[in-house]
Amino acid sequence: MKVLNALPIAVAVFMTACTTDPNSPGLEYMPDMYRSPAVEAYVDYGQEAYLVGEDVARAQRNTPSSRKPVPGTIPFRGEDQIAFSLPYPYAQTPEDYERAGVELKSPLVTNQANIEAGEKVYTAMCTQCHGVEGKGDGALSVNGHIAGIPSYVDKLKDLPEGKMYHTLTWGKGLMGSHASQLSQRQRWEVIEYIKVLQQGGEMPEFDENGVLVPADAGGGAKDEPSKPAAPAAPVGMEGMAANTDF
Ligand code: HEC
Repeated sequence: MKVLNALPIAVAVFMTACTTDPNSPGLEYMPDMYRSPAVEAYVDYGQEAYLVGEDVARAQRNTPSSRKPVPGTIPFRGEDQIAFSLPYPYAQTPEDYERAGVELKSPLVTNQANIEAGEKVYTAMCTQCHGVEGKGDGALSVNGHIAGIPSYVDKLKDLPEGKMYHTLTWGKGLMGSHASQLSQRQRWEVIEYIKVLQQGGEMPEFDENGVLVPADAGGGAKDEPSKPAAPAAPVGMEGMAANTDF
């Protein structure tokens, strides 16, 4: 008899635990651990204490969500990318511009792939001012918008690569900084192409693997140094002082 009394109750519980919605999880008994708190990146969890109470505000501030890296943090993108990941150690001063000109060397090998990558950047981002051949006669120069753009084959013929990189990073005169548009690798690539323009714009000779043929063997561009293959960290990176933005 007792079993018969309990039966309708059991059936009633069983029936109400099910719903017709196939996506519904049904009745959740003590759901505390079913769902973890969904912490969203870029959500500000640190509301003001007077809005949510001191305890809640403190707990929110301790919620790990998307935070700024600790100052001095350096992104690691792999061994071969270290030279392009370190902070730029030269400050935006005339002295450091000169210093970069002497010390700072490109971590890239001068080869066909790097020069052609640089040509792409140059065509997209620099010709409007510097002109296709780098003679300072781009559209913005010709229409008088930006005056006094120097020519790579003339005034800038012997400009060292370290100074070019410094200028691309910090800007100089009417040329703005390109640090936010170009990665460090792209800055060095476009410099590879400017070095070609400094020699008159004629592509040097490459072998079938895209490796530079030495000038005396091929008679290509002169004074084009071919670099040792292993890209070491650029000279002067030990300091890693001032800014971490680049
Ligand atoms: C808005 C026009 C403009 C654009 C775009 C521009 N430049 Fe310049 N660039 C200038 C001007 C003006 C100067 C001369 C700056 C000075 O010496 O006062 C200059 C100078 C330079 C120099 C010589 C820097 C030195 O240390 O004397 C280099 C190298 C250079 N630009 C490379 C580039 C590259 C590479 C790009 C494309 C990624 C580029 N520029 C884009 C206007 C521009």
